[in-house]
Formats: sequence, structure tokens, C-alpha cells
Amino acid sequence: MSLLQDNFGRKFPYIRMSITDVCNFKCGYCLPNGYQVDKSDNRKFLHLDEIRRLAIVFSKLGVSKIRITGGEPTVRKDFFEIIKILKDAGIKKVTITTNGYHLDKKAQMLVNSGLNGINISIDSLDRNTFKTITGHDRLPEILRGIQNLQDLNFDNIKINAVLLKNINTSEKDFDTWGNFIKKNKVDFRYIELMRTGDNLNYFNKYHVSSKIFKEYLDKNNWIYQTFGKDAGPSLNYINPHYEGKFGIIAPYSKDFCKTCNRLRITSRGDLRLCLFGNTGISIRHLLQKDDQIQELQDLILGQMKFKKESHYLELGETGLTENLSTTGG
Ligand code: 5AD
Ligand code: SF4
Repeated sequence: MSLLQDNFGRKFPYIRMSITDVCNFKCGYCLPNGYQVDKSDNRKFLHLDEIRRLAIVFSKLGVSKIRITGGEPTVRKDFFEIIKILKDAGIKKVTITTNGYHLDKKAQMLVNSGLNGINISIDSLDRNTFKTITGHDRLPEILRGIQNLQDLNFDNIKINAVLLKNINTSEKDFDTWGNFIKKNKVDFRYIELMRTGDNLNYFNKYHVSSKIFKEYLDKNNWIYQTFGKDAGPSLNYINPHYEGKFGIIAPYSKDFCKTCNRLRITSRGDLRLCLFGNTGISIRHLLQKDDQIQELQDLILGQMKFKKESHYLELGETGLTENLSTTGG
């Protein structure tokens, strides 16, 4: 039972924890020029002891799932240790979001780590398009990685793609993904492009409503699956002839925030109540010693009353988010 609850009756059994801002890809909507080191900023990303204390507190607060994000979380040398620390603290489900860099080589270690799920970002199954969007010709190694995971019987695999007008939105693109999930037990979801503090031009050029994909699903007899208990904000579609599912994540839709079940921790130890809301406080000063754990727990609980009902993105607010590499999407 999650003790984390807000004034709107929402519970938070799920935390997204960013462990680094660094990323080795250059996705056009996120870090078009790659990750830039800010030399004036000598604050380091959360270290292992801080992560362990966070995990202990969240475990006490009834959090059952932590997703590790970035930046690209696997760039950290102690990445596998972090998975272990979260599991040892009693977090039942530990999952990651990754760009799939070197996934072919990492698959075995990921499975051995006890990881419970993986979200891989693949914006296109066309090698050239993939390269254009991310700046890296790495689609083949990622697809090999997925195959390796499946060969090791790891089956909680999700793929996310950002919906980009005229880049991956043709009927053929949708069919290509359909063929992929026909044979692969993988959930594929399109995310609507979100406007962030520094992608306005890109957003104006490429944003398109997920309605086009929804219409495709309706036309092709995909069946809308109503929410499960901890479904989160993805709309899921099933089809008996397919191993995998399709999904849509539409942050601008009217009811998106109603099913919000997650809080965020940034790589520098801020608690963020919403991906876009500018409500967030640093909790890092309470991550320094084991005897601060009670105080930390009280502080986090006390913050719940500040969680707002919605993100107000449709009003053009972007909150604090310059790009998603700092909050992990
Ligand atoms: N809009 C939508 N999705 C985004 N992501 C990164 N930036 C954006 C954005 N502006 C996605 C990544 C990845 C996940 C972590 O967030 O592609 O799938
Ligand atoms: Fe890196 Fe993810 Fe941003 Fe792409 S979207 S640049 S993979 S952090």
C-alpha cells in the first residue's frame, strides 16, 4: 500500500529516478547538440549511498516500483550496482528506460541483475531515419539486444517512439511496427512530442496529435484495453493475432493527469511532483546520513499536498523542464 497520496486521491506507488543527465545520443527533440558539460556546475549526480537512502525511504512509504532513467542511465559505471541497491532496499520492481546503446552486449548482465522491465526508445525501425533522429547508426545493435533479451526469456520489454510528423507517421511506419509486435511479445507505444523549454522550433515543426495513430488502430481492429490497477497514463490496445500490444501516451490529452501514479527524483536529488510542474524541492541535504531517514520520510510525505491536479501544458507552460534529459521523460 502506498502511503504517498495527494489531495486528488491519487496514489504514488511508482518513482522515476534519474541517475545522470549525461546522454550519448543526440535526439533532435531532446539534445540536438548532444549533452553539454556545464563547467560551472560541479554538483555531482546522486551517489550510491544517497540512492540507497532514497530507496529505503521509498520502500517504507510503500513504493513498489522504481524506474531508473537519465539522460542515459547505462552510461554510469556503477549502473548495475544501482539496480542491486534498489532491489536490496526492498523495491519489488526495478525497471529502466534506455536508448539501447550497446544493448546487445548488456543483455546478459541486465537479465542477471534481476531487472524487472526495460523501456527502450526506438523512434523508427528504418535504419536511416533512426540515425537521423538520434545521431547514431545503432539500430542494428539495439534490435540484436532485444533478440538477446528474448533469448534469455526476459519478456517485460516495452519500446517507446516519439511521434514525429512526416518522419515516422505514415501508414507504412505503423504497419512496420505492427509486423514487429506480431511476432514479438513487446509493447510498442507512441509518445506525443512534448514541448520543453528548449525545443520550441522542433516542436512546432514536428508535433502531431496522436489521433492519427489512434485512427489507424481503430481502422485495423485494435481493441482498446481499459485501465488496470496501476496502468499509468498509457492507452493500450490489444489484438488477438499479435504477441505484443500497441499504446499511446498523449500528455496533452484532457485526462492524462488523472491516472498519474508517479513522482520523480532528478539526478541531483530534487523531488519533482510532476514532469512539467515547477513544483520541486531539493531533498539532497537529507540524503547524507543514515539517521536522517525519518526526517526525509516526513519531508517527502509533507510535499504530497503540493501536487497539482494537472500540468497545464496546454496553456504553453513548460515548468522547469529545459529538455527531458534532466528529468528522464
Ligand atoms: N517529447 C516526448 N518524448 C520525449 N522523450 C524525450 N524528450 C521528449 C519530448 N520532448 C522520450 C524519449 C524516451 C523517453 C525517455 O522520453 O524518446 O523515449
Ligand atoms: Fe538521450 Fe533520451 Fe534525450 Fe535521446 S531522448 S538525447 S536518448 S536523453
